[in-house]
Amino acid sequence: MLSKDKTLIRVLSGESLQPPPIWLMRQAGRYLPEYRQTRKQAGSFLDLCYNPELAVEVTLQPIRRYGFDASILFSDILVVPHALGQKLWFVEGQGPKLTALENAAAVAQLDRSGFHDRLAPVYETVRGLSQALPAETALIGFSGAPWTVASYMIEGGSSRDFATAKLWAYKDPSGFSQLIDLLVEMTAEYLCRQIEAGAEVLQIFDSWAGAWPADQVIKWSLQPILAIVRAVKAKHPHVPVIVFPKGVGPNYIAFAAIEEFDGLSLDSSLPLGWVKDNLAGKITLQGNLDPLLLVSGGDALAAAVDKILEIFAGTPFIFNLGHGIVPQTPPEHVAELVARVRGQVSKAG
Ligand code: CP3
Repeated sequence: MLSKDKTLIRVLSGESLQPPPIWLMRQAGRYLPEYRQTRKQAGSFLDLCYNPELAVEVTLQPIRRYGFDASILFSDILVVPHALGQKLWFVEGQGPKLTALENAAAVAQLDRSGFHDRLAPVYETVRGLSQALPAETALIGFSGAPWTVASYMIEGGSSRDFATAKLWAYKDPSGFSQLIDLLVEMTAEYLCRQIEAGAEVLQIFDSWAGAWPADQVIKWSLQPILAIVRAVKAKHPHVPVIVFPKGVGPNYIAFAAIEEFDGLSLDSSLPLGWVKDNLAGKITLQGNLDPLLLVSGGDALAAAVDKILEIFAGTPFIFNLGHGIVPQTPPEHVAELVARVRGQVSKAG
């Protein structure tokens, strides 16, 4: 099957499909028993990311179970700082830890020379997937956006308020820009390599874009993402890009207006009526079921799914969550969701 005939790629080029294509952020992960088993076999989470054979296996697991329309490369956004020589490890129950970058001098010491060699196993995973996936399943490559990745590099891990990273940007914007610019350049190269290995669509995750006041969202989220997309499209003009600026509220309008972006992934906080009035018809939209509805299941899930399907009917749309699947999700609720989106069950009351 040609890549342009896959449902995900058709909607990203502006077609509306009924039923819409569906895939879920974090569709491979701890909610699946087979993932937990493969992860144990790999050793650590990072060992799994850098083991092409096992990374291909965990990417395929949710495709086998649910037949999603798209598959997302199994890796993590933090392999980029790791490939720049920053120390990275994952602590069970706490998430990622990095040796925090403190200033522009530390940015200058990051090592770009070994970047693609360190990421070679990720490129091999993409090549393996493009061989192994069913013909109708689109392959999504991804990266973090510069701001979200920089926040982990500066905070040394997850953060509640991003105080250290934001204060750096406010007090020393030119030093902070050196880090953002480096991430723009290296992320664009990283995404081009994923395309050259077989990725057919890209998604750029700016999970913490909502940490900024509205004007700063443009400067530190939208503009760096746009610089990446322009650099990627200069080489690969036909590969569609989905952008996920989580939490930016009314600034979603600014993202929807960017011609270079093909899809916009919506978080669960956006009111559907507002989305319909302000975003629908401007760009292909993706989202935005609350991941906790997938944990609850039942009538609450069914009603929310039907409402999303109704609002987006007749517009170019991809069914997804508003953020990643959480580990406590019962796998059978995911099966129910897919059946409902595909119209294989009767509508709620
Ligand atoms: O199936 C997929 O979506 C593909 C794989 C994927 C992972 N991380 C695997 C993962 C993708 C696309 C990501 C992106 C990612 N990673 C983001 C952006 C999207 C988002 O969720 O906001 C961010 C912020 C990260 C950084 C990260 N990685 C954190 C904060 C954590 C810890 C939280 C957690 O869920 O444990 C991770 C770990 C991680 N990345 C896991 C997985 C499957 C869990 C690791 C494990 O097996 O223990």
